[in-house]
Amino acid sequence: MYRTCMPVLVTGSSGNVGRWVGEELHAAGADVRCAVRPPSSGQLPEGTVGFDFTDERTWAAAFAGVRALFLVRPPAIGNVRRDLLPAVAAAREAGVEHVVFLSIQGADRLRVVPHATVERWLQGSGLGWTFVRPSFFTQNLSTTHAPDIRDRDEVVVPAGRGRTAFVDTRDVAAVAAAALLDPAAHRDQAWTPTGPEALTYTEVADVLTDVLGRPITYRDPGLPGWFRHARTVLGMPVGMAVVTAAIYTTARLGLAAGLTDHVEQVTGRPPASVRTTAVREQAAWRRTPENPRGGQS
Ligand SMILES: NC(=O)c1ccc[n+]([C@@H]2O[C@H](COP(=O)([O-])OP(=O)(O)OC[C@H]3O[C@@H](n4cnc5c(N)ncnc54)[C@H](OP(=O)(O)O)[C@@H]3O)[C@@H](O)[C@H]2O)c1
Repeated sequence: MYRTCMPVLVTGSSGNVGRWVGEELHAAGADVRCAVRPPSSGQLPEGTVGFDFTDERTWAAAFAGVRALFLVRPPAIGNVRRDLLPAVAAAREAGVEHVVFLSIQGADRLRVVPHATVERWLQGSGLGWTFVRPSFFTQNLSTTHAPDIRDRDEVVVPAGRGRTAFVDTRDVAAVAAAALLDPAAHRDQAWTPTGPEALTYTEVADVLTDVLGRPITYRDPGLPGWFRHARTVLGMPVGMAVVTAAIYTTARLGLAAGLTDHVEQVTGRPPASVRTTAVREQAAWRRTPENPRGGQS
């Protein structure tokens, strides 16, 4: 077994999980290089390197000297064979030995998701791999769904009464960081980080009601209603509205409720509950004096 002493490259380092992977690695004293998309003008922040999966000119500098790679499939990249895997192949040529891939719960069964294509490619690549297949991020509530909760006191998703095993992105990052720090111990393994409990969206709304001190309700708009809401209110691109409809249908069917103890097994500490994350993230749903009723008239 070896512990990482060569630079680790963190892709998606501005993202929901990547930012915490970078923090965890820094805290552990690892040599971290955070990949960010090159700005059109100005300097890159210290400790970062310009990198774009779709721009071959950025790859050599980003991969130079790197042994382990944290790989995020950006949601906007649908065609991973064309827009993601060539960069990973270049990383292998540049000397990367191990890839920790941020996948998705059930990627081993859901062959149609792009993550499954990446997993299969990595398994045949000769690279060491670790798959981190999280359940649904609790932070989706404080990002994607924040306007509904903040401005209209509603959680709006077409998930019926299905339960979801929400996970905090910091716990996902901690699992990924452990694998990046000790790749040999996690080689060719798949972890499925989940939170400690699977909640219905009615229960989520109850937690938010407690945390925020004002009533938050759950509304299931149905699939056509979700599609309209996602497009017109949340401003989602069509592809994302379709993918989220599929994800919430999975929850509705009861297929998103599976719990594991992988966070505790890998990190030695229990995963955060939805309540713990909600307390930490509550600023996302508070109305500010400048915006007392959010988007409502
Ligand atoms: N949301 C969930 O509940 C959930 C659950 C399980 C798995 N996942 C998976 O987790 C992954 C991350 O999803 P997320 O929604 O949390 O996204 P995210 O991490 O918030 O954002 C994607 C990251 O990729 C970067 N990026 C975008 N295009 C890029 C490009 N062409 N080259 C290099 N970097 C690029 C973005 O940088 P910029 O800041 O420059 O845009 C950002 O840092 C996805 O594959 C998703 O399917 C999500």
